Amino acid sequence: MSFQIIGTGSAYPAASITNDDISKFVDTSDEWISTRTGIRSRRLAWDETVSDYAVHAAQGALENAGTKPEELDLIICATARGEFLTPSLACVVQSRLGAGCPAFDINAACSGFLYALDAAEGWFARGRASRVLVVAAEQMSELVNWNDRSTCVLFGDGAGAAVLAPGEGLQSICIHAKGSTEELRIACAQGNSPFAKPRENSPFLQMDGKGVYKFAVSAMCHDLEQAIEQAGLSQEEIDLVLPHQANIRIIETAIHRLNIPAERYRTNIDRYGNTSAASIPILLDELNRAGELRPGMMLALTAFGGGLTSGACVIRWTK
Ligand SMILES: CC(C)(COP(=O)(O)OP(=O)(O)OC[C@H]1O[C@@H](n2cnc3c(N)ncnc32)[C@H](O)[C@@H]1OP(=O)(O)O)[C@@H](O)C(=O)NCCC(=O)NCCS
Repeated sequence: MSFQIIGTGSAYPAASITNDDISKFVDTSDEWISTRTGIRSRRLAWDETVSDYAVHAAQGALENAGTKPEELDLIICATARGEFLTPSLACVVQSRLGAGCPAFDINAACSGFLYALDAAEGWFARGRASRVLVVAAEQMSELVNWNDRSTCVLFGDGAGAAVLAPGEGLQSICIHAKGSTEELRIACAQGNSPFAKPRENSPFLQMDGKGVYKFAVSAMCHDLEQAIEQAGLSQEEIDLVLPHQANIRIIETAIHRLNIPAERYRTNIDRYGNTSAASIPILLDELNRAGELRPGMMLALTAFGGGLTSGACVIRWTK
């Protein structure tokens, strides 16, 4: 037994910050950001916490699924960092929803939603769950260095969620990791032990943009090919591709290398930037609410990011 998606939700901070807004604080321009990345604006938290919009996304997904919090058997949150190291973001969401089920976080950076779906699938396979809530939520604005123009312009804050139920929606899923701290890392804050040697670690996201770019294109192509083949489908049979929204040029390069018609790819990076693990479920919710998803459609989801991690899956839309 596998799962089907029966509801989606998304939420983000109220403030929409344009490239021109950022240019007032950082040596950059709308022209540079939009041509190099496809990003025009992003949502950034002012007084919201990541828990706030994670809960709103979860509530939207539950409502869309016609599911009550007390019916949930499991909550998995995909996040690089919740509001607290402990309790996990999943436990905070569980408490604020009024649910009573087990809850845990997964950190697979931008691939977190795919990793969470893979973990959830195991609960259905073991017959442990009939309703699972997956929430992906990130507050990247707290993790990037706002003095580093090469990274701060790329990211945004937001959350996306999905409610899963038993069914035959999931056709295939693959997840991968190629452990490396070289291309992308965010160091943990150091404690204040008087017995520990001070580390010279920036607490902010550090990235080799070109290294990540190369990894992203090859992971996206490889993983999509693998997931589609495992589903027993040809690339032409995929109705919609929902790629992780990191850089429009990464998606365009992958489009040229694959055999899925370009008009089947969906993007919203222009409005949200890179929301890490949240990017795919936010896009999925937008498509669901816009009525773009019809029963029987084959959706291919593909993500890549820090770790380095990546993953892809094929889901038959059943809602
Ligand atoms: C980050 C990224 C957009 C940079 O694009 P790029 O074409 O590789 O640009 P470069 O790093 O070569 O920088 C080119 C120039 O632009 C400058 N630049 C960098 N950021 C800038 C900004 N925000 N505004 C203006 N100029 C900027 C650089 O200083 C450099 O100037 P120089 O040539 O005088 O040294 C691109 O590499 C990328 O998207 N990588 C993948 C990142 C990613 O997706 N990460 C998340 C993974 S989930």
